[in-house]
Amino acid sequence: MQGPSKTFVNLIAYHTTRTRRLHSQSARWRSWVQPLALLMKLDPLVSSLSLYDIANTPGVAADVSHINSPAQVEGYAGEEQLGKALEGSDVVIIPAGVPRKPGMTRDDLFNINAGIVKSLCTAIANYCPHALVNMISNPVNSTVPIAAEVFKKAGTYDEKKLFGVTTLDVVRAKTFYAAKANVNVPVIGGHAGVTILPLFSQATPKSNNLSDEEIKALTKRTQDGGTEVVEAKAGKGSATLSMAVTELPFFASKVRLGKNGADEVLGLGPLLKPELKASIEKGIQFANRS
Ligand code: LMR
Repeated sequence: MQGPSKTFVNLIAYHTTRTRRLHSQSARWRSWVQPLALLMKLDPLVSSLSLYDIANTPGVAADVSHINSPAQVEGYAGEEQLGKALEGSDVVIIPAGVPRKPGMTRDDLFNINAGIVKSLCTAIANYCPHALVNMISNPVNSTVPIAAEVFKKAGTYDEKKLFGVTTLDVVRAKTFYAAKANVNVPVIGGHAGVTILPLFSQATPKSNNLSDEEIKALTKRTQDGGTEVVEAKAGKGSATLSMAVTELPFFASKVRLGKNGADEVLGLGPLLKPELKASIEKGIQFANRS
């Protein structure tokens, strides 16, 4: 993909505005969004990096800005700076909200994260309506539909420019499949439990040695990858470092990216997963409630 001449990237970690939780939220920002900020700063396609949170972002921005790569870094803190942080952005990445604790499903985060995502997307529609929007906030199966509904209402929706980030599932499927990075395993569907569908039968290079039992075990491990990390971190967060309908309106598939978003969706045949459908409808209903 050829990059635009000027790229603004907004990393948005937007937590609750409740003062009581401000400290722990900000501490979490430091631990789980910083690796992403670091990766974006190292990307030669990024010319300007904008970090946003309710507090402490200028300090993190100062730290990241010392990395010797071309991107200019700015930190914005507080809701009053959100517009400025977003203005002119070509790409917006949203890892906002709270992570899971052991025993929780991604859907258990809906009540907290749905509202956060909705208000961020309202600001995106106002300040950078043409940006490519990458949604990481869980439950991704519902937050992407929320974003789409907000953009539709604002008249800014472009299906080629809204993405649910599920690369984590592809990375896991590859690692568990052969423990080597040059294997390609498509992962389609959604990003929760059985909606994560690794297609080991389409892996390249192909391994003819895997039994049905082994494929089943690899599929389960990929679907449970996030839970494995949540449990290993024992309440201290979820994955930060290893960072997917034909009949359904949102379905993770392989896409060819271009300057204006998804140039081509590489089709994978008709599939329907009721779990993914329910999560999509939940997001749409939430977004249209008020
Ligand atoms: C993941 O897959 O690691 C993320 O979606 C975080 C989580 O809660 O599992």
